[in-house]
Amino acid sequence: MVSRVIPVDDFDLVIFGATGDLAHRKIIPGLFRRFVAGQIPDTAQIIGAARTEQSDDDFRAEAAKSIVEFGGVKKDDPALAQFLPLLSYVPIDAKGDGGWKELKSRMRKRAIHAFYFSVAPALFGDIAERLAKNGIADSKSRIVVEKPFGRDLQTARALNKMLAQYFAEEQIYRIDHYLGKETVQNLMAVRFANILFEPLWNAQYIDHVQITVAETVGVAGRGSYYDKSGAIRDMVQNHMMQLLCLIAMEPPYHFDPDAVRDEKLKVIRALEPVEAIDIVRGQYQADEDGDGYLADSENPDSRTESYVAMKVRISNWRWQGTPFYLRTGKKLRARTSEIAITFKEPPHSIFEDAGTSGAPKANELVIRLQPNEGMNLKVMIKEPGPGGMRLVQVPLDMTFADALGPEGADMPDAYERLIMDVIRGNQTLFMRGDEVEAAWAWTDPIINAWEESKNRPEPYDSGSSGPEEALRLMHRDNRRWKEIRA
Ligand code: BG6
Repeated sequence: MVSRVIPVDDFDLVIFGATGDLAHRKIIPGLFRRFVAGQIPDTAQIIGAARTEQSDDDFRAEAAKSIVEFGGVKKDDPALAQFLPLLSYVPIDAKGDGGWKELKSRMRKRAIHAFYFSVAPALFGDIAERLAKNGIADSKSRIVVEKPFGRDLQTARALNKMLAQYFAEEQIYRIDHYLGKETVQNLMAVRFANILFEPLWNAQYIDHVQITVAETVGVAGRGSYYDKSGAIRDMVQNHMMQLLCLIAMEPPYHFDPDAVRDEKLKVIRALEPVEAIDIVRGQYQADEDGDGYLADSENPDSRTESYVAMKVRISNWRWQGTPFYLRTGKKLRARTSEIAITFKEPPHSIFEDAGTSGAPKANELVIRLQPNEGMNLKVMIKEPGPGGMRLVQVPLDMTFADALGPEGADMPDAYERLIMDVIRGNQTLFMRGDEVEAAWAWTDPIINAWEESKNRPEPYDSGSSGPEEALRLMHRDNRRWKEIRA
């Protein structure tokens, strides 16, 4: 199956923080791949801006290195030589006057203007103000802001307010890179493009939902950032919340940015507060291959969680009585993200009294987000062979790469897709200001209650499935976590 590439219109994209990690690991290699795919016109300009004094050629040389290292491209790939002339560089002082006039002179009147704020949130205000005051951004320009968007409701509100002084909501693209993942969007396709699931998608038929984002990496190298954040701020308030919303929301009337975001917002607002008994925090311990969290975070007294599991309830008609269990953590057994929907057992089994073994088990739909993107639906069938009606559960397993062929396996990275959406002016996969604030309004009390308590996170072994306590969270409800495996 050949995927269709729709070229975007001509654009000038300015990357603030162009010498930083995100720009070199994700943004620049991503733009290169879109260029190779034929989506970016060769008249487009990608302008790097940062404090470092360097020439256009220096920047191109650095960019080429990143594309080779992080994009898996050969040094002598002819496409590289075609792509690099699109790049240029302007040294800029985000807090002063230097570089802004030069930047303005490089922007073309007729192209789409997008400004990617790949910098610390503390600089968002300075940059927004200078873009406006120097007449570089106008009412048609777009800005892209990275996570973390605030660290609580108050700071997120302040950020929204500050950006609103210079830009309308329609111009602000708040990135949550999970929304750019192919299979995350597939959640909407599966739910709203099939008649099969939606009639059963409610508390009457769904027993519970498990959302797992497990990682094998620790926090070494970014411990000082992570230690001020922890799993709830780093993963739950944003990525896991987005997954939860896509699973739980009502069908939007149209696949339109505000229609989708209105429905997500309703889910966030319907979340019940989480009681202390329904949440487990963990911290990974050292093993022979590496240090534990306390060493990685360089904070021997840290109470920050590198793992969290929680039971979440949504207070609305559709989900009354169906719990959602969320868990995410670092240094776990495998890197895997999946959503498992366990349906209820059939209300009456015709087989039980017929001398049969193997009573019907609940159907389960597992949507694998990464790796091996795909779906697995567990159904009951008759065990083959003579001698009575024995039932057995079998998987209807589909890996998207197998179903769609090699083109299906070659999925664009989340950043590639999202940047192209910015240029197209499509905000569907970006968070709206009120959505971010509502998510903080729900997580703030959870974080505050923990900060006020004297408790420490539960220790767990690196390479395990998380702390024992998290198992008990499920056992209490007579349920089990799905195994974490790649
Ligand atoms: C980032 C978090 O937003 O997402 C990281 O800050 C985390 O801590 C990462 O590792 C996970 O993203 P992915 O795409 O690797 O699942």
